[in-house]
Order: sequence, then structure tokens, then C-alpha cells
Amino acid sequence: MAATQSPTHTLRFDSRLRDAGLFLREAVRTFRATGSVVPSSPALAGALTRHLTERPGPAPLAILEGGAGTGPVSRAIARHMGPEDTADLVEANAGMAAHLQDLVDTDPDFAPVRERLRVHAAPVEEVSREGGYDLIISGLPLANFTAGEVRGIFEHYFEVLKPGGRLSFFGYLYTKEVKAVIAPREDYLRQARSGWVVEEYLNRYGTGSEKVIANFPPAWIHHLRKPVD
Ligand SMILES: C[S@@+](CC[C@H](N)C(=O)[O-])C[C@H]1O[C@@H](n2cnc3c(N)ncnc32)[C@H](O)[C@@H]1O
Repeated sequence: MAATQSPTHTLRFDSRLRDAGLFLREAVRTFRATGSVVPSSPALAGALTRHLTERPGPAPLAILEGGAGTGPVSRAIARHMGPEDTADLVEANAGMAAHLQDLVDTDPDFAPVRERLRVHAAPVEEVSREGGYDLIISGLPLANFTAGEVRGIFEHYFEVLKPGGRLSFFGYLYTKEVKAVIAPREDYLRQARSGWVVEEYLNRYGTGSEKVIANFPPAWIHHLRKPVD
């Protein structure tokens, strides 16, 4: 018997295909800021939202997503938000931010929490919230940035994070090894220097890391916690 698919399933597949098309176009145009050629997989989104799905209690969470892109992680955030949680979804690329706003306004996955989501078409370094955030989920391609830029981003995250708040972010596997072989020496050294800043933050605040193979490219997800005092 031939399998049939529901109209909702077909709608979601069409929507993801459009997301992937936009992501690829923007990656070709601005690879340094985009950092990948395809949106993150559900497995990566699941690991990045671990502190939302495994929340410690019923208290409402204020969430910040940096580098939302075409929204695969925003979708996971929306699905797991509690009844009083709020989220600022931040994307610096104006085209992707407009696409994300459209998704939030029209996609059924976002409908239950629509009123508590805010899309910001801005660099995440410019977004803050009175009282701070409980949870920051970052999709920024840190390996493409300079050490100074990476430090500036971490400093901002730790400034807007509440004491005891969590930060989850990812880095693709093997980029340093691949760059050692194919990239100009200056680019390899730039990535090594920005990697040291990431290491510094992991050593100071890291609570755990997990490897996600089911993503292109495979990635490490890192979880950090801001000390209470
Ligand atoms: C690797 S993509 C991840 C996109 C999406 N979160 C996902 O997982 O598919 C990185 C995204 O960060 C955005 N970005 C880069 N620098 C940014 C910044 N300073 N502030 C906000 N977004 C930024 C890029 O435009 C891009 O959409």
C-alpha cells in the first residue's frame, strides 16, 4: 500500500526546504558570518536546548538565542518553552531575520508561544534584557571569528546572563584539522587563537560537552554556567 503524508507534514517539509535554500544562498554570499552551508539538524538543536528540556524547576525562563539563522533551533526552543517562558531570537542577517519573523508569525510550531517570542534583526552583542537571561543558546560560528570578536561575544553573554544562568553553544568537529591542510597559514592561526579563547571559557565555566554526529558537519556542544557570586 502506498504511504500517504498529512498536509501538515507536507507543509513542514516544504517550509524546511525553503529554509535550507535561503540558508545556502546566504552561506554562499557571507560564509564568514554564516559558518555552514545547511541549517542545524534536529539532533544538534536537541543538544543545544538541553537546559530547556531538562529544566531544574517550574520557574519561568528568559531565553536568548544568538545567531538564529533560519530557525531550526528556535523551533526546538518554541516547542519546549514553558507557559511563562520568553525568548529573544537574534539574527544579524536581515534576510534571515525577516524569514524567521515570518516563521514565527505563520508556522504552527511557533503558534502556542508566538506572543512571548521576539525576533531581533541585530548583532547579538547589541541585545540585552533588564534582569538578564536564564539561558543563552548560541549558534554563532565562533571558529570563523577573530579572538577579539570571540572574547567580545563571551563577555557580552556573561554580562547579560543571570548568576547561575546557562550558556550552550557549538563548534564543528575537525575544522582546525581541515584548515591545517587547506587554509592559508594566517587563517589557521586566526582560528587557533579564537579557539584558545573558547578553551579559556570552557576551563573557567564549562559543565559538560557532548558530541553530535547526526549533523552536517558533526559538532561539539558545550554547556557553561555563570557562577552565582
Ligand atoms: C552556523 S549559523 C547557525 C544558524 C542556526 N542557528 C542553525 O543552527 O542552523 C550562524 C548564524 O549566526 C548569524 N550571525 C553571525 N554573527 C552574528 C552576530 N554577531 N549576531 C547575531 N547573529 C549572527 C549568521 O547570520 C548565521 O545565521
